[in-house]
Parts: sequence; structure tokens; C-alpha cells
Amino acid sequence: MTGGGEQAGVSPAGPTLVLSPQARLAVEARLRADRRAVEDGLDRLLGANGVPPTLHEAMRYSVFAGGKRLRPLLVIAAAEVGGTAADAVLPAACAVELVHTYSLVHDDLPAMDDSPTRRGRPTCHVVYGDALAVLAGDGLQALGFDLLARNAGVPGIAPDRVVRAIAALATGIGARGMVGGQTLDLLAARDRSRDVREIHRLKTGALIEACLRIGGLLGGASDAALDALARYGAHVGLAFQIVDDLLDVLGDETALGKHTGSDAAQAKLTFPGVFGVTAARELAQEATAQAVLALEPLGARGRWLHDLAIYLLTRDR
Ligand code: IPE
Ligand code: IPE
Ligand code: MG
Ligand code: MG
Ligand code: MG
Repeated sequence: MTGGGEQAGVSPAGPTLVLSPQARLAVEARLRADRRAVEDGLDRLLGANGVPPTLHEAMRYSVFAGGKRLRPLLVIAAAEVGGTAADAVLPAACAVELVHTYSLVHDDLPAMDDSPTRRGRPTCHVVYGDALAVLAGDGLQALGFDLLARNAGVPGIAPDRVVRAIAALATGIGARGMVGGQTLDLLAARDRSRDVREIHRLKTGALIEACLRIGGLLGGASDAALDALARYGAHVGLAFQIVDDLLDVLGDETALGKHTGSDAAQAKLTFPGVFGVTAARELAQEATAQAVLALEPLGARGRWLHDLAIYLLTRDR
């Protein structure tokens, strides 16, 4: 799939992507509960000890600006598939949120997307300056890996699974994952022939896939379940970024907590830009349908992830 007005191929058949009103309420209740646990965990884990106060403040500023906490929720959901409760994976769930927040702080820098607002506030670099924003991002990333590594020695978690979880995060956010995707995203402003699907898979899908792997690994999922979780994550991640692109065109700045119209202003390669709004919506649905299909091997254990994927399609923030 490349730029330049290409038509989208949308398959008409597939799973139903609608939630009943009761199911929506249940999703929202669960999101609230999981988010509370994540907020508490982040607050505990982002301590001041030994951190220069200004750096600590800048790190906390971005983390506690009110993100949706989707990635930690996915770690928790994937751990549940292996029969493990949220508490046991809370540090890992917080770890991916710190790493994600690092990616946002750097994404917003003048040298990248040059974004003035994030999570309803002026961006980190606007408040603390570019250098401190770079360093706050670096600090958040390192703390994320630190938290993940602290699973070593936790009863019930095999050490090799901790190593694999760390490797999954490194792969997901590295040069073959998020950072690679962010590079292609920047290059695409000048080279419209780039593959927008590949950019989105890498810049957003790779970390989301890693979250599913991490939760599955630490939660004790079987190899078959891990495979299903990873495939689900890749598809949900693509759908998530397509919806992010759509919200940049159609969304409400207050709800989103960030400026809209910035993709067009920055000449970004996006799904609505390449395919148009209607086809982009259909492609987000198609990716969500693929995510739902990937859950089939999990049976009833995939119910929450199923409902969450569908819920995310109609998000407004
Ligand atoms: C924004 O991520 C960046 C993308 C990868 C689309 P989110 O939409 O999850 O942002 P927060 O965490 O809720 O602020
Ligand atoms: C961000 O994509 C992807 C990251 C890896 C941070 P965007 O640049 O579209 O995210 P927003 O719209 O600024 O949140
Ligand atoms: Mg960007
Ligand atoms: Mg951006
Ligand atoms: Mg965006």
C-alpha cells in the first residue's frame, strides 16, 4: 500500500464489530478500574529518590497529564489470558506506559512533530525546554526497562520469561519497531511513495504488539496463546493508529488533549490522507476484524480483548 490516491480493498465479510449498550458500559467500568490501578502503580513507581528534582518533575509532568493508559491495560489483559491477576503484572504494565510516554515526549519535540499540546497540557518541551524533554524521555525509557527487569526473582515468573519480555519491549520500540517507524514517518513528509501501513505498523503497532507479548509472557500464556496475543496486538495497533489519524482530521481538540490538523500541517502520510476518510474508517474496521479473528484460539479467555478492540474503534480520544 503506497501513497497517491490508491483505492482501499475492503472485505465485506467478517466478524460483527458492534457492542451492545450493556457491553459498552461493562468495558467502560473495567477501563475505569484498571486505570485506577495503573495510576496508583505509576505514582508509587515514579519516586523522587536520587533523581535531580527538575528531571523528576519533567518526567512526572508528562506521565500524569492524563493518558488513556491503553498499553498497560493491554499488558494486564494479556496476563489474564494466562490466568494471572493484574496485581502481579502491575510493574510491567507501568513500564510500558513510561516507555510510551517517553515516545510521546520525543514525538512532540520541535525536531519531530513540533506539537504544542499533549494530554491537555502544553508539551513537556514547551514547559521544560527541549534538552530536559529529551532527558525526561530518556529517563522514562530507562525506568521502564528497569521495572520490567525487576520481575526477575518474582515467585511464579520464570526468569527466561522476564528476559523474553525485556527483549520484546526492546524489539518493539527499537530500530526495527517504533523508532524505525518514527524515522519512516519523518522521511515520508518528503517521500510520498512510502508505505503508510508499514509506517503505522512500526511506529504504533510494534509497541502495542510488545505489550501483548509482555503480558502473555509474564502471565504464563502458552506458546499458542502468545502467538494469538501478538497477532491481535499487531492488528489492534494498526487500527489504533488509523483512528488516531482520523481523529487528527475529525476529532475534538479538548477531548483529545492535543491539537488537531497537525498531520496535514506537517505533511504526514496518514490513512485519511492516502485513502480518504471513508476508506480509512473501513481499513480501521478491517484491522479490528483481523484482531478479533486472531483471538479465536483463546476462546472465552479472549472476550475482554475482543470487546476492547471494538470499543477502541469508536473512541473519541
Ligand atoms: C498517542 O497515543 C500516540 C499514538 C501512538 C497514536 P495514545 O492515543 O495512546 O495517547 P495517550 O497515552 O492516551 O495520551
Ligand atoms: C505517534 O504518532 C507515534 C509514536 C510513536 C509516538 P503521532 O505523531 O500520530 O501521535 P500523536 O498524534 O502526536 O499523538
Ligand atoms: Mg508523530
Ligand atoms: Mg505526533
Ligand atoms: Mg497522530
